[in-house]
Amino acid sequence: MTVCEYKPGLEGIPAAQSSISYVDGQKGILEYRGIRIEELATKSTFLETAYLLIWGELPTKEELADFKAEIRYHRRIKYRIRDMMKCFPETGHPMDALQASAAALGLFYSKRALDNPAYIREAVVRLLAKIPTMVAAFQMMRKGNDPVRPNDDMDYATNFLYMLNEREPDPLAAQIFDVCLTLHAEHTINASTFSAMVTASTLTDPYAVVASAVGTLAGPLHGGANEEVIEMLEEIGSVENVRPYLDNCLQNKSKIMGFGHRVYKVKDPRAIILQNLAEQLFEKFGHDKYYDIAVEMERAVEEKLGHRGIYPNVDYYSGLVYRKLGIPTDLFTPVFAIARVAGWLAHWKEQLGENRIFRPTQIYTGSHEAPYVEIEQR
Ligand code: ACO
Repeated sequence: MTVCEYKPGLEGIPAAQSSISYVDGQKGILEYRGIRIEELATKSTFLETAYLLIWGELPTKEELADFKAEIRYHRRIKYRIRDMMKCFPETGHPMDALQASAAALGLFYSKRALDNPAYIREAVVRLLAKIPTMVAAFQMMRKGNDPVRPNDDMDYATNFLYMLNEREPDPLAAQIFDVCLTLHAEHTINASTFSAMVTASTLTDPYAVVASAVGTLAGPLHGGANEEVIEMLEEIGSVENVRPYLDNCLQNKSKIMGFGHRVYKVKDPRAIILQNLAEQLFEKFGHDKYYDIAVEMERAVEEKLGHRGIYPNVDYYSGLVYRKLGIPTDLFTPVFAIARVAGWLAHWKEQLGENRIFRPTQIYTGSHEAPYVEIEQR
């Protein structure tokens, strides 16, 4: 076997062949199944995009109508899942609640048939349909309220915002939220997708696959960064404070949240679209002073770190958009998960097509033939 050079974080090491999405980090290009993200963000909807990612082609009108109808039908969650979630501490993080509830789905739909296309479709539909309901249910229950039942007359994005706030959202807000989901639906083999693929490669059930990916997405170096961006902007507090804050970060060698990316060395194309969406929201629903701070911070970071390829990533403007949509800060990452379920499931399905269990090697750095010291002598 050829021994490869060790690369921490597997940087630049191909771990799979995939036709799902493509990123050019130097040019700032992102494509899902060959279609540019800018085009999907303006012409498609999240569910249509999810279908494209998972089945490889845009659906026909009939296919899309059937898919949407199936998702509507499966939006409800079993009362036992709701009862289980009621026992979760309201102080717990919603990502932990989501990870536990996603894994719990596996208890209810345990008849695994990974070689049956009908099973694959049903699992895809169930996960896409139920994850938003579970996120919204936890939000209601931790406030001491009953969960809001999904509304069959509402589309995917509208229904989620409705279940979250108990009122029908403004159509522009729902449309912008749908675009946010499309932007977050897939991004090649990042940490959470890799996690999903490793779990999938053991041929376990898709609920375990999604639960493991949710756990990975939760970390502050991955999906959790969007929460920290808002905390950072609040800490900065004013446009005048941006440069002293940045200098302080650079002096202390602390990371600036929402900036930098393993792949993108220019501004993330999704950040460009999200910034535009944020501006549309502020125009209709009122300005947010933290947006001015964010723009000034971007300018300052570009001056100081742009030459090192450190630019805003997807998490930088998404938090500002979500805040304006009335989504609480600690739900930003669960909302990311609602979207990324599409990408995880696309990779799950692709992985099953040519599966080989992931089993990388390691470079052992420990000792050999070490003496066993009896407990009394330690
Ligand atoms: N602020 C300041 N310096 C940075 C930043 C940043 N946000 N990002 C990278 N750098 C610097 C590092 O300090 C390091 O400098 P050094 O070579 O002098 O030590 C160099 O750039 C390389 O950084 P790494 O962390 O090694 O780069 P890596 O490719 O491993 O990390 C990552 C990418 C984790 C996203 C990183 O940029 C980061 O921590 N950013 C902040 C957190 C964040 O926004 N995460 C969301 C990413 S998008 C997503 O997951 C959906």
